[in-house]
Formats: sequence, structure tokens, C-alpha cells
Amino acid sequence: MHNTRLDGLTEYPFQRLNALLGGVTSEVAVSEQIAMSIGEPQHAPPAILHTALAQHPLDWGKYPPTPGTPEFRRAVAGWITRRYKLPASMIDAEKNVLPVAGSREALFMAAQLCVPPQKNGRTPTVLMPNPFYQVYFGAAVMNGAEPVFVPATKATGFQPNYTTTPADALDRVAMAYLCTPANPQGTVATLDRLKQTIPLARKHDFVLVSDECYSEIYGDTPPAGALEACAALGGDLKNVLVFNSLSKRSSVPGLRSGFVAGDPDLIAKFNKLRSHGGAVQPVPVLNASIALWNDEAHVNDNRALYRGKFDDAAQILSGRFGFYRPEGGFFLWLDVSDGEKAARALWSKGGIKVLPGGYLARPDASGTNPGQSYIRVALVHDRVHTADALQKLRRVLDSGF
Ligand SMILES: Cc1ncc(COP(=O)(O)O)c(C=O)c1O
Repeated sequence: MHNTRLDGLTEYPFQRLNALLGGVTSEVAVSEQIAMSIGEPQHAPPAILHTALAQHPLDWGKYPPTPGTPEFRRAVAGWITRRYKLPASMIDAEKNVLPVAGSREALFMAAQLCVPPQKNGRTPTVLMPNPFYQVYFGAAVMNGAEPVFVPATKATGFQPNYTTTPADALDRVAMAYLCTPANPQGTVATLDRLKQTIPLARKHDFVLVSDECYSEIYGDTPPAGALEACAALGGDLKNVLVFNSLSKRSSVPGLRSGFVAGDPDLIAKFNKLRSHGGAVQPVPVLNASIALWNDEAHVNDNRALYRGKFDDAAQILSGRFGFYRPEGGFFLWLDVSDGEKAARALWSKGGIKVLPGGYLARPDASGTNPGQSYIRVALVHDRVHTADALQKLRRVLDSGF
């Protein structure tokens, strides 16, 4: 006996990668191998984390409240307000913010919050970019919605455009995932695009779920955010939820600390839902997170490390494999003709693990998988190892693998 919706899920990309490489022997010594397949920041966590975590050890003896602490909510509201230059009263810490245990579980659970059994008498749909962060698909399927894949390919500037979806189709939409900066493409939704999409969500009554966990890893220009777009539209947060976390911003993916912010009605309902079974942040983690959201110095340092690596990547890969410098995030999205074949060759000849792009996408209406010809390369290691690995990657790919 099991939930048969599970049968609609594919294996997660990393399991598929293990299966792909399972029978491939790497010619490279274990000590020389490098995993660029997973987006797990390897930069040292900021020193203030350790101090803050050690401060109130007795708090480990407390069950964490689902809505976190007022201090945590205020720190997040303050950060959002500063980051997006919002009017001081727009984000109410008591009504617009909830802690989550990293954005992943909350992005998944958001579908439980937003997908009704039926929408206007039909099976609800969930819009998502294609290629996309795989959690969106699992969330839609497990909540009985039909996933609708909207191209986020070179032809569309590597972002989905929901504004061209026909009105009748939008009437079926329960929620739309947007990823900005995007994983894997590294592109950013412009403020204009966000400002066009939010009224659409309100008109057709679906929830715009904006996944902004890479918002602080960018080149020159801080990416716009959906809450900033709400401000530009007059300040109403209706039908908008933004998800972010410290995982990438502060290089602490193991801390499992993030937030959801937006529509007060949805936040109240999410709090109710999460009080029945949501993942909570321990009180010492909430306190340490306050210190991290209140500090930008370590974030600037972190961003500079990524910039250095993208400078190197541009030198090494410019003019090859469709290289472009992403506006945000820490992935390269390289067109290598056959992502699986390249991943096998890079592992066997270079000891480099990368993710075939096809594992992050679904076939489009014509049966073509828009990620199939790509690989995703995570620049999460230090600069020296990253540059060395990119040189090797270039040699293997240049050899026609
Ligand atoms: C696009 C995207 N969203 C969300 C997450 C989840 O991150 P976390 O749960 O650490 O906040 C990731 C992690 O890699 C991601 O790439």
C-alpha cells in the first residue's frame, strides 16, 4: 500500500547521475576528483555563525515554535526592507514572515498550501520553468496538480514567460514557480517581468511562488525580487510568496535556515499547515540566523569569491560550449551537444562530476528535452581548484570526448 502519486515521480537527478556513472571507472585518482554536480557551497561559513550558535546552549532544550521568534521575524523583515529598499511599514514581521528549515522543504510544502482539489471545476495546474529545480515537479505531482512546463531556454532568454499563457489555461493554474536567479540557467527575472506576472496571478487567482535563494550571489547588479515588484505595484502582497535562505547567501546549507514572506492570508494559512507537520528551525538556529541576516560584510566577501571564479571561467571557456556569464547563482550552463555523454567523459577522463542538463528538464510538446544538450557545472569549490577543474573540463570537452 502506498500513495500512487509517488509513481509519477522520476528518480531525483543525483540518483540518476549515480546510475549513469555507476559503471564508469574514473582514470583520475580519488584525491584529484571533484564534484561540481551538486550546488553545495564549499566556502567557509562566516565566523559570526559559530559565536552566535554557541551563545544560548540551553535553548537546545526548547521545542521550536512553528512561527519562530519575534526577533527572527523582525530580522528577516528588516533584511527584506533594506535589500529591496521597501517602505518601512510594508513588511510586517508578525503577518508577512515565517521561518522555514531551508527553502527546499517549504517550496515543496507550498503546493500543499496552494493547490486545491479543483480549480474552476478542473484539475489544477502548476506552472514551472523548463529546465527547473526538481522540487517543483515533485510538489505538483504529490498534490494532485498537473505540472505545466514553460520553456526557459535560450530562445526565451532562459526565463519562463508566464504572461503569454492563454487566459483559459491561467484559469486552471493554482500556483506558478519562478526561480530568480534561476537554477540551472543563472538568469534573472527583470522587475518589469515580475510586475507583469503578479497582476496575472491576482487576475486568475493563482499564487506566484518566487524562489529567490540565489538572490545574493550575483555579478554587478542585485537581482530584483517579487516583493520589490509588489512595492512597485503599490505595496499589496496578495497572491505572492517569496522563498529565500541562508544556504547560498552565507554558505551554510547545513544550517537549514530560510524564510517565506508575502501574502498575509497565505502566511497565516501556511503557519496553520506547518503547525501540523512543518519542519521547524531550532531556537539556537533562529538566533544564529538573526546574526547572519543582520550582517552584509560576509555576504560581500562571499560574492567576491564567486566573482573571481566567474572571471576565471570566462577566461577559460569564453567562446566555447555556449558559455555565458550568469547574472546570478553559481552554475555554468554549458551546451555540449550531449549532456550525458559529456558527464560520462568528464568523470572518466577528468575525474569531474557534473550534472547532465536533461535530468533538470522534461520533454517539451515536440518531445525534445530542452536540457538534453547541456551540463550544469557548480562553481562551489575554492578558486584554485575550480579554475584547475575548468581547465581540465575544457581539455576533455575540446577532445570531442
Ligand atoms: C533553485 C533552488 N531552490 C531552492 C533550493 C533549496 O535550498 P535550501 O533548502 O538550502 O534553501 C536550492 C538548492 O540547491 C535551489 O537550487
